[in-house]
Amino acid sequence: MNENLKRQAAAMALTQVQSGMRLGLGTGSTAWHFVDLLGQQVAAGFDCLCVPTSEATARQAKSLGIPLSDLETLDRLDLTVDGADEIDPALNLIKGAGGALLREKIVADASDAMIVIADASKLVETLGKFPLPIEVNRFGLGATQRAIADVMVTHGGEGGLRLRATASGDNYVTDGGHLILDAFFGRISQPEALSRDLLDIAGVVQHGLFLKMCRRAYVATPDGVRTLLAAEE
Ligand code: A5P
Repeated sequence: MNENLKRQAAAMALTQVQSGMRLGLGTGSTAWHFVDLLGQQVAAGFDCLCVPTSEATARQAKSLGIPLSDLETLDRLDLTVDGADEIDPALNLIKGAGGALLREKIVADASDAMIVIADASKLVETLGKFPLPIEVNRFGLGATQRAIADVMVTHGGEGGLRLRATASGDNYVTDGGHLILDAFFGRISQPEALSRDLLDIAGVVQHGLFLKMCRRAYVATPDGVRTLLAAEE
């Protein structure tokens, strides 16, 4: 059921893809459906050039024969399609449950547009119930952890900070070789200020708040796919 909804959202995003586009390919179980559907189109002769946001997505795209490139070769991308962990009414996002937030943000930032695909369970009034992934350098982990904990106090985050681990108990390591701290805020009332405060910490590589990056979301519900648009400023 859930997979079916994810696929419906992915299929809507595919309607926005035109021949010859340069695409960013997201990461996660919803983005997986988009890449799978795009692969079917490519097999039928569709022309596109794509930059994946993770090694996992790169493997999937390669297996489907989707032509891949990188941001050294391409200046800009037309569109990135990706999933999200939370989506607020302004289409601000929390991303990074799959650990790909750094590459996802770099690719989205290099794109003229970002479309998010999700099922309705990802919609929230206020970001923060989902733990915020923060990608950090391995060096100085303790100092970085303490600095993030201080920022959490300032922003009313009382749920703690957890170093992400794999199922076998090892530290989770991102594609970029960094670690992830999951910050349990409960409610993030000032996402812009929080973003700035986190990025001011030297050991923080990036965080999973995607603010004002997404203008359109396709959210699948049992009654159909809803199109959500960010309000113009
Ligand atoms: C990957 O790092 C994440 O940002 C995913 O895009 C996000 O977690 C959504 O994943 P699902 O589509 O699997 O829920």
